[in-house]
Amino acid sequence: MKYLIINGSPRKKNTWAIVERIRHNLEGDFEEVHLSKEHIPFCNGCYNCIMKGEEYCPHRQYIEPIIEKLKSCDAFIIASPVYAMNVTALLKNFFDHTAYLYHRPEFFTKKAIVVVSTAGAGHKKVANYIDETLRHWGVNKVYKLYVACGGKDSPDNKKIDKESEKFGKDVLSKKLHSPKFADIVFFNVWKAMAVSDNSIPADKEFWFNTGLVNHDFSPDVKLGVIKKIFSKGMFNILKRVM
Ligand SMILES: Cc1cc2nc3c(=O)[nH]c(=O)nc-3n(C[C@H](O)[C@H](O)[C@H](O)COP(=O)(O)O)c2cc1C
Repeated sequence: MKYLIINGSPRKKNTWAIVERIRHNLEGDFEEVHLSKEHIPFCNGCYNCIMKGEEYCPHRQYIEPIIEKLKSCDAFIIASPVYAMNVTALLKNFFDHTAYLYHRPEFFTKKAIVVVSTAGAGHKKVANYIDETLRHWGVNKVYKLYVACGGKDSPDNKKIDKESEKFGKDVLSKKLHSPKFADIVFFNVWKAMAVSDNSIPADKEFWFNTGLVNHDFSPDVKLGVIKKIFSKGMFNILKRVM
């Protein structure tokens, strides 16, 4: 298995120690991206990625290699300490550059584990935020590890081992999970937007060129009858309101 590690911490300490422990529990090859070494400029809000296409992002030379690594791995580990009750600016800046993936999700066959370390607060909230972002990218299954490392707390190694072993087994199985209802709703929001009269050009091109517009969810992922009916119903409602 090929794993990509995206490290949103500017240093290799608490968060990295958890990543290393996870890595120890997984079998495969690991590639590392340390965002602190990527020197990605701040997103300047030009909207090019969303409106025209991600290839028009003025910082594409920084972002594309990471996106290509995400595309070619089987699964990834994404890590951040809590900074001021959120992810680090390094990770948020990377996420800002991937906002187009909300409109045009790509990672339906990927699984991920989110690692968040904290001195004491905000870890659950921050892990949930990263989970939400990845699910908007299309990621099939997101595991979450949020760990307190401050004060008297030493990281809960049992919890780290249990969750990372579960993650590793799931990645090895190559089995894709049925999406949550909320994921089906978001899929249809963007699909309905893409077919609407005032659709964003880059979105229209993506949804039609990939053929996703003809599906109730990514064809890589099996939908049961109820979720299929739900998806079709959602699309019909959203198409009318867009
Ligand atoms: C700038 C900064 C902001 C922080 N904000 C918080 C916070 O809001 N809540 C918290 O519990 N810990 C906070 N911390 C503590 C870190 O989340 C914690 O020590 C973490 O484990 C550090 O990870 P690292 O060793 O990978 O840098 C902050 C640390 C720094 C440097």
